[in-house]
Amino acid sequence: MSTNKVNIFDTTLRDGEQVPGCKLNTKEKIELALALEELGVDIIEAGFPISSPGDFTSVNEISKIIKHATVCGLTRAVQKDIEVAAEALKYAKRPRIHTGIGTSDYHIKGKFNSNREDILERAIQCVKWAKNFVDDVEFYAEDAGRTDNDYLARVVEAVIKAGATVVNIPDTTGYCLPNQYGNKMAYLRNNVSNIDRAILSCHCHNDLGLATANSIEGVINGARQIECTINGLGERAGNTSLEEVVMVLKQHKDLGFYSNVNTKLLNPLSRQVSDVMRVPVQPNKAIVGANAFSHSSGIHQDGFLKSAITYEIIDPVDVGADISKIVLTARSGRSALAFRLKKLGYDFNRNDVDALYQKFLQVADNKKEINDEDLHQMAKQHESVETV
Ligand code: KIV
Ligand code: ZN
Repeated sequence: MSTNKVNIFDTTLRDGEQVPGCKLNTKEKIELALALEELGVDIIEAGFPISSPGDFTSVNEISKIIKHATVCGLTRAVQKDIEVAAEALKYAKRPRIHTGIGTSDYHIKGKFNSNREDILERAIQCVKWAKNFVDDVEFYAEDAGRTDNDYLARVVEAVIKAGATVVNIPDTTGYCLPNQYGNKMAYLRNNVSNIDRAILSCHCHNDLGLATANSIEGVINGARQIECTINGLGERAGNTSLEEVVMVLKQHKDLGFYSNVNTKLLNPLSRQVSDVMRVPVQPNKAIVGANAFSHSSGIHQDGFLKSAITYEIIDPVDVGADISKIVLTARSGRSALAFRLKKLGYDFNRNDVDALYQKFLQVADNKKEINDEDLHQMAKQHESVETV
């Protein structure tokens, strides 16, 4: 593998938008596309042009304004889909058509009532059609996660021969274990004779909570593109979360990979997506959750206040998050209480803090969290007792 750069393919505007209730209008999509370009993603999957006139317009307008990133439109392996996608992408500086078909026996039999040879032929045909319009054609083998590896290798070899520049290996149902997904990539690298003519791409769903692990395992085994969404939005349990994979690559320099994403923009963009799609981010979400940089137990707070690295592997500034928080609950310790009181301007000695801590525990046992107002009250009470 000649390069260690991992291309980030953002599909918030396509797979992410498939979340019920998250539909975006053209203006909202344009704003997010511009923010994604500023973030530094390499490819923006702007939509599925044949799916509705509104999505056609969105892809078309995004194609006009995006300067550096590749703009991609999704299609089925259907000639009309491909023609419409090509039309929607006609102003893009770097257009890509993303076309494909289900390759697992579940899809071949259950969805298409077909057989492997016919599906192989349709896969070749859709890439050839797309090549009439654009150079950059990505092929997806839907449900590759549950596709027999020998057959998948035949399909991949054939679509590369037909002109595919990128081959997407989706774990559509989020079924694979990390080693299975990694082995699949390795199998393709070792058994597809023309594999060096295309980039392998990871597209993992999160049904078992393994999407990030699977994508990273895919990269370790030869993939150089990850398809992902902001906040991990997407069908059912969602897609691979962009912020997670980008930070894995950044924090694990030992892996030797990098992306072009400006990580300082991750938290602002997460909030923007959450607001426009009206989907709150779970508080314990890695990188962008409200608690990702909060410390609440006494043991952690004491260590963190002595040296941040004891309990934080990421500097919040690096991902555009608010500074780390010391949250006060009944599990907090004296050092955290002293720290918060000092921040509010009180200069208590050790004996004062000991006395205040007993009061603090009584209040904290009856409240979920102690806020600044509670602290002021405790401090004032303590000061008035001391001066009597
Ligand atoms: O999950 C999937 O297989 C997809 C394809 C359409 C790329 O989203
Ligand atoms: Zn998907």
